[in-house]
Amino acid sequence: MITLETDWSVEATAERREKYYAASQQKFVPFREPMVFTKGEMQYLWDADGRRYIDLLAMNVCISVGHAHPKVVAAACAQAAELTHCTTMFYHPVPAHFAEELAAVMPKGHDWVVHFTNSGAEAIDLAMTMARGFTGNLDLLSLRTAYHGPTAAAQSVTGIAGWRHPGMPGNVAFVAEPNQYRGVFGAGAQPYLDEIDRTIATATTGQIAGMLIEPVQGYGGVIAMPPGYISGAAERVRAAGGLLIIDEVQTGFGRTGDHMWGFEADGVIPDIVVMAKGIGNGFPLGAVVVRKQIAEPMRDKFMFHTYGANPTTCAAGRAVLQVIHEEKLQENSRIVGAALLQRLQDLQTRHASIGDVRGRGLMLAIEMVKDRKTKEPDPAITAQVFENCREAGLILSKSGPNQSILRMVPPMCLNLRDVDLVAEGLDRAFAALS
Ligand SMILES: Cc1ncc(COP(=O)(O)O)c(C=O)c1O
Repeated sequence: MITLETDWSVEATAERREKYYAASQQKFVPFREPMVFTKGEMQYLWDADGRRYIDLLAMNVCISVGHAHPKVVAAACAQAAELTHCTTMFYHPVPAHFAEELAAVMPKGHDWVVHFTNSGAEAIDLAMTMARGFTGNLDLLSLRTAYHGPTAAAQSVTGIAGWRHPGMPGNVAFVAEPNQYRGVFGAGAQPYLDEIDRTIATATTGQIAGMLIEPVQGYGGVIAMPPGYISGAAERVRAAGGLLIIDEVQTGFGRTGDHMWGFEADGVIPDIVVMAKGIGNGFPLGAVVVRKQIAEPMRDKFMFHTYGANPTTCAAGRAVLQVIHEEKLQENSRIVGAALLQRLQDLQTRHASIGDVRGRGLMLAIEMVKDRKTKEPDPAITAQVFENCREAGLILSKSGPNQSILRMVPPMCLNLRDVDLVAEGLDRAFAALS
């Protein structure tokens, strides 16, 4: 067996990162002081000092069914030991089965087909290419405060300046996000649908390739699309020749509690669905699930992701789907998420800096403001509470364009005992402010 010495100390790890990571991989760190995790089990993490934390971030929403879930690990290890990788040029039953199983959890009565990628951003790129190829139109609509990934194409549909770098492709028009707490047009879906009409009429050729929507914006700060918005957007987009592209990278696989997919809450059937993160429970995997006829024109050219349809990650993905079903994790997300939301609402009554609490299932957020009337975002208080949460044994995320939102997206196995600990920990984190 190969043994490679690993120095687990926080100081040495920080020093190596500083010296050998490019600047591009150094910025995105959560806490003032570095943190090393040595172990994860289900909804818990342990740091280098052996201290336990409740993971409310799930490694950026990747850990859907629990850290190191034994069934997922066993499935991936068994496949890796036989044939770790098999390029899509050759046929392999594991990804073929997984494609069938994914199609089976999509809305019935449609011809769903699957293209596996390695990440969400690759899947977004592919969805954009498919929509442009199928419709023959270039212009896409996206939402402000959307996050769709780091590749050039995915950045071009991402609506947060901090994630946009020079050199992105164009032909993207942004519309205001229907944020029910602080949206520019106030509450309701209609004013934001009118904005789609105006934008198509003024900022595109009039014919579009499609529109990308996260049913609940994740990194944007847990902004749920209000009832009627996705279906209303779909009508308008289709009338302008475009396709509805739903990004389920954060919302998918039962996390929102009531449904397997976030779009189902609005009773709409998308043309293209993008998934990643929770699909692999930490194994790098993404997928575009699309109506068959939309993918058909792609037959004329090659589209190859080297690790797309990798049997090891697909074995993990198959196990994830089975565990979600066996352990009733969608239902758990609904029940435990509702209990946590109630505790957050209770916190709001006692801490004036909490402007809003919101979310669906196990996708929840607290928005911090300087003043509840003006709703001015308060990133400074958010950062303090965030640091205090670390002390209280909670890992969560600072999100949103102003970094003023505490986002909670734990593994879907979080339980009601954890909810008590989270509520008490948050309470201590707020109390420590004064
Ligand atoms: C909603 C959404 N779409 C797409 C992506 C991009 O996925 P990946 O980081 O796997 O490329 C992310 C990543 O955070 C995301 O949250």
